[in-house]
Amino acid sequence: MPRRLVVFNACTGFSVVLLSTIVVVSIFGPLRKYTHRYLSSHNSTAIDLFDKERACVNPYNENGFAWFPETDDTTDATWVPLYEGVLDEDYTSTWSSEKISAEHLYSDGALPRQVLALSPFNWVQALARLHRLLLKSWRIDEDGNWLASETPNGYLSRDELREMREYENLLSWIKNRRLLMVSDSVDRFQTAFFCDLLDQAPVIGQGQHSTYWCHIPYLNVTLMHWHIASFVTSRPPWGWWRDMKVVTVEERWTTFFEPTLDKVVGMNGRSPDLIMVQSGLWDQQMYGIAYMTDHGEKEPDFSRPLNWAELRLYMQRERSLVARLRQQFGNDVPMVYRMSTLPRDQTWHSSLHDINQAARFVARETDMEIMDFGNMLHGHDHLYFDGAHLGPGALSIWANMWLWYLFRGQGGVEVKGKIMQMPPEDKPYYLSQNWNFCHEIFVNGRHKRENPRAD
Ligand SMILES: *[C@@H]1O[C@H](CO)[C@@H](O)[C@H](O)[C@H]1NC(C)=O
Ligand SMILES: *[C@@H]1O[C@H](CO)[C@@H](O)[C@H](O)[C@H]1NC(C)=O
Repeated sequence: MPRRLVVFNACTGFSVVLLSTIVVVSIFGPLRKYTHRYLSSHNSTAIDLFDKERACVNPYNENGFAWFPETDDTTDATWVPLYEGVLDEDYTSTWSSEKISAEHLYSDGALPRQVLALSPFNWVQALARLHRLLLKSWRIDEDGNWLASETPNGYLSRDELREMREYENLLSWIKNRRLLMVSDSVDRFQTAFFCDLLDQAPVIGQGQHSTYWCHIPYLNVTLMHWHIASFVTSRPPWGWWRDMKVVTVEERWTTFFEPTLDKVVGMNGRSPDLIMVQSGLWDQQMYGIAYMTDHGEKEPDFSRPLNWAELRLYMQRERSLVARLRQQFGNDVPMVYRMSTLPRDQTWHSSLHDINQAARFVARETDMEIMDFGNMLHGHDHLYFDGAHLGPGALSIWANMWLWYLFRGQGGVEVKGKIMQMPPEDKPYYLSQNWNFCHEIFVNGRHKRENPRAD
């Protein structure tokens, strides 16, 4: 099979394969693991109680590293941001070059607890645990529908019962939420892994790579994926789109996306609670094949950096998509640009780097924050299950990241791994107010350090 087909073929048969591949392993620690990080829950409508400079810390935009503990639990992986203070810890406690006769020069075990404690809250792990407890207690059935509002006696131990109640409180803000992704199949696969963790089979909309969603009934949460197939401006005659009849964003909008609008409107009656936008892998394909065709070449060259005509088309088309989304959902809908993941084959990286840089610029011009996913997992080859897609090993980083944005939109405040405020009860109606509280800081970056130290 020619390399260029890898991305698309891999997408076709996946829903069958994938739902059986993930086994949910219940190694979720007790809630105790989190409670020390869970400070208080104010009952207020605004978050101006907080000093912005301190409250507005986006762990996913801080320098850091992806951490994959060696456990069987696929939801253990996390992004670990690096904050001031880590430089002060003495390296000799973990590294000693003199110990050459010892078996190991240094310990490669777990992260120090104080470092791990700064990592963002693991919402997806908590959700998975709550899900298991609700199933075990017969509160919900296997399809995720409520069976009982109270826990019938005898199915859970007293500890489990208490744990379940704690998780229900902790996660109540997730109820009734709508996430919309307008992006490529990397998000779609992660959506499938997420839904599988909660035993939901996703629904595949009509058409080729069109729409894909899953709804978790007892949470009343919907994840909707609208697949865009590059920013091409009309269906090209060159062979690549053989099975795909509808390719432009405009046509896909009216043919595929519009019929699903009712599923993505959240509690404000107007918009989803969060939109993630991204386009990259398909644009790279499109430009590669267009160039090959135009120059009468036999093979596309994905190592070629993009030219100006390509970059400009990409940027202007991205801006139109953002405008279309705002026209539909309102100018204040929380929307982020998710950085494209790079193909596993490093020789393909340069054009996607170009696309990502261009996308960063457009995000800034259109006042969108950056969800730096592709960048965070750059080079982690072990996560890929084919040339383009990240497997379930990336799920907890992917899901906790958008859950972090969602939490913030609902008025939650999390700072350096600590939950400072739970979303207030009247959360749905303050979506844009909550979002805007930190938005400017997140778009422009945090202030320069006042007293840099180099000792
Ligand atoms: C929280 O706020 C609501 C609405 O303002 C109010 O009705 C409720 O009594 C408050 N709850 C507590 C615990 O203060
Ligand atoms: C489910 O969520 C939607 C969107 O937020 C909301 O409109 C609807 O009222 C919710 N349904 C229930 C039963 O709460």
